[in-house]
Amino acid sequence: MNQESHAELLRLAVEAARTAGAHALNNTARRNDVVALTAHDVKLQLDVECQKIAESIISRRFPEHGFIGEENGVAQPLPGKGYHWIVDPIDGTVNFNFGFSYWCCSVAVMHDTAVVAGAVFAPEIDELYTATVDEAAHLNGRPIRVSDRTDIAQALMYMGTGGNNPDMPAAFKRMQAVSERVRKIRIMGSAALDICRVARGQGDGYFEDGVYLWDTAAAGLILRQAGGRTEDLTTHPTLRQRYLATNGHTHEALRVTLQPYL
Ligand code: IPD
Ligand code: CA
Repeated sequence: MNQESHAELLRLAVEAARTAGAHALNNTARRNDVVALTAHDVKLQLDVECQKIAESIISRRFPEHGFIGEENGVAQPLPGKGYHWIVDPIDGTVNFNFGFSYWCCSVAVMHDTAVVAGAVFAPEIDELYTATVDEAAHLNGRPIRVSDRTDIAQALMYMGTGGNNPDMPAAFKRMQAVSERVRKIRIMGSAALDICRVARGQGDGYFEDGVYLWDTAAAGLILRQAGGRTEDLTTHPTLRQRYLATNGHTHEALRVTLQPYL
């Protein structure tokens, strides 16, 4: 298999994220067309359409590359060898469904076991976050950098509750523990955008138990290339993650705060 240029992979990730995101934005009149509904989550017809749009753009250019995505199920193995694309067509689906502009399209590409390029595009607020493994992270073409806050008492922390009832008591215990130590927590509803907000310094950390590789792959690379740190706190890594993402300086203190509740 060819060794692809990271710049070319990023260009394609951006094209896929922009095209899928534009399709969702142009079809907001159909934001209530539901494919599956659970107590705390929703899958939309537009999720399915945007996934297909992104994948067809990628497959046309790189027919031999693979995909890792929600529709293939959570039991699929972590990638080992070769190129794999990881697409979350609408991250923040419930927000999109309710007309709240905090949602995005996330596209990452993994070479063997490392994410090498990623794009996160939030069409309604016009934010495009990008990075490759050998270049700094950018927002709309301008370099971004994490905050330099070191004291978690001053920190703003993004968190999430996951989508399953059985996980919620533990999630709220963690939120209480973190709330008592930081300035504020926020539950915004899009893991990928939350992590990108940490990358640009609009927050100092993010944690959620029960996110998946497609929520974090692109944004995690963007954060690392902006000077931050990411860590999956599960003991045996799978697609499902306990994902801590920080500006680096707050990392240890946040991990210590979370650890008793994991
Ligand atoms: C969800 C969002 C949300 C997070 C959930 C994710 P979806 O993704 O990222 O912020 O709390 O864990 O599943 O379902 O909107 O693609
Ligand atoms: Ca998602």
